[in-house]
Amino acid sequence: MPSLRILPCRSLIVKLVMLLMPSFLVLFYLQISDKRSSQASQELISLGHSTYLSHSKSVSHSRRSLSHSVKVSQSVKVSDSSKVSDFVSQIHSATVYRFTEDDINKLHTPFSMGNDESDVMVFLHMQKTGGTFFGKNLVRNLQLSTPCRCDKGRGMLKCPCTSPNGKRYWLFSRYSVGWKCGLHADYTELTECLLSGKLDELEQQMRQRRYHYVTVLRDPMSRFVSEWQHVSRGASWIDSTHRCKGRSPTKQELPPCYEGVSWSNVTLEEFMACPHNLARNRQTRMMANLSLIGCYADDMLYNPSKGQILLESAKQTLRSFPYFSIQSLLNESQLLFEQTFDLKFQTPMFEQKNRHNRHSADILHSLPESLQKQILEVNSLDVQLYDYATQLFNKRYQYALRHLVQHSSYREPYS
Ligand SMILES: *[C@@H]1O[C@H](CO)[C@@H](O)[C@H](O)[C@H]1NC(C)=O
Ligand SMILES: *[C@@H]1O[C@H](CO)[C@@H](O)[C@H](O)[C@H]1NC(C)=O
Ligand SMILES: *[C@@H]1O[C@H](CO)[C@@H](O)[C@H](O)[C@H]1NC(C)=O
Repeated sequence: MPSLRILPCRSLIVKLVMLLMPSFLVLFYLQISDKRSSQASQELISLGHSTYLSHSKSVSHSRRSLSHSVKVSQSVKVSDSSKVSDFVSQIHSATVYRFTEDDINKLHTPFSMGNDESDVMVFLHMQKTGGTFFGKNLVRNLQLSTPCRCDKGRGMLKCPCTSPNGKRYWLFSRYSVGWKCGLHADYTELTECLLSGKLDELEQQMRQRRYHYVTVLRDPMSRFVSEWQHVSRGASWIDSTHRCKGRSPTKQELPPCYEGVSWSNVTLEEFMACPHNLARNRQTRMMANLSLIGCYADDMLYNPSKGQILLESAKQTLRSFPYFSIQSLLNESQLLFEQTFDLKFQTPMFEQKNRHNRHSADILHSLPESLQKQILEVNSLDVQLYDYATQLFNKRYQYALRHLVQHSSYREPYS
């Protein structure tokens, strides 16, 4: 009977399996944990597409399917410029922050432009972050069934972006409605102003609204140099209202750094030295809820012990935004925008041809180290915020990539 001969053989196999099971388990665990840690490190460094390619087979597979689906949607390529390697080394040097799924997954945020809908995109435009470029792309370069109505009256671009019947604004930004909450209004001003019914007033109708804030962040060192250049060329934002808790700060609360109408020809040293210069830590201040520190009163804004409150508030604001972009990561920013709001740009948002911006990074790097250090010191909150922002951006971007790959109908030809 064959079964008699097989029986001992079977029990032998069972014994063998029992014997080997623990080592299988160990091997299996090692395999998994290895995958996990490589995934974690890959998340940190895979913004550049060459690094992306150099990882495991499954990753290169996803990248290929990604570039396919991206081509289909006439969108952007993952960049591999040297800028990204700057970005990567920066991430590596940073603290690793923890984010929740809620902070990271903002994909397919419901956003509708219909007549009876309530969605409004609010663009918080901080000075010298590339926001003008981004803002123009919002009004001119999105694929929309009802495009914004651009009209270059009096040399100033104006493109109201409304619902089909023209009665509801879905974009609240300089180019869509003008500076309705003040020139370069910050988060504090925007939230107070919109809460007090600015859009009801504008549209002459009361309605519920869902605000979706977006912004652009930039490397704070270059941004600071860029602002200095801009101001030394004679620009000022003297008309900014800096409203907080319903009023603008007094001259005692916010003393001017210069007399007269502009600060032209100011040296970088002078510019840095003025303690009330709003260029210092501008991004943190503009993203924070200034009510938390008593607005501009009592010099609290410049008090180092208040810095942490500002920074934490700015981080919280950033997490709550369904979208923000990083000025130097244009292609990644475009892809993330498209995936977040299910909107598409008509053409890729090409590298900004702005000689001033490129110039400011060059100037920064040509400065003596001691000056660079001082710039860092007077912008230390912004440096920390930017570090946090780039990591959160990277997480959101990676999440969007994975999502794109999973939902791509693309099949590899040889698999
Ligand atoms: C961004 O995308 C455009 C168009 O797809 C491409 O030509 C350009 O090289 C990309 N930029 C970077 C930095 O990868
Ligand atoms: C700034 O410098 C330029 C060139 O040196 C000069 O023409 C201009 O008058 C200066 N402006 C002020 C306000 O000093
Ligand atoms: C800002 O802080 C104040 C004071 O705590 C609070 O009343 C207000 O709702 C906050 N604003 C936002 C937009 O979170």
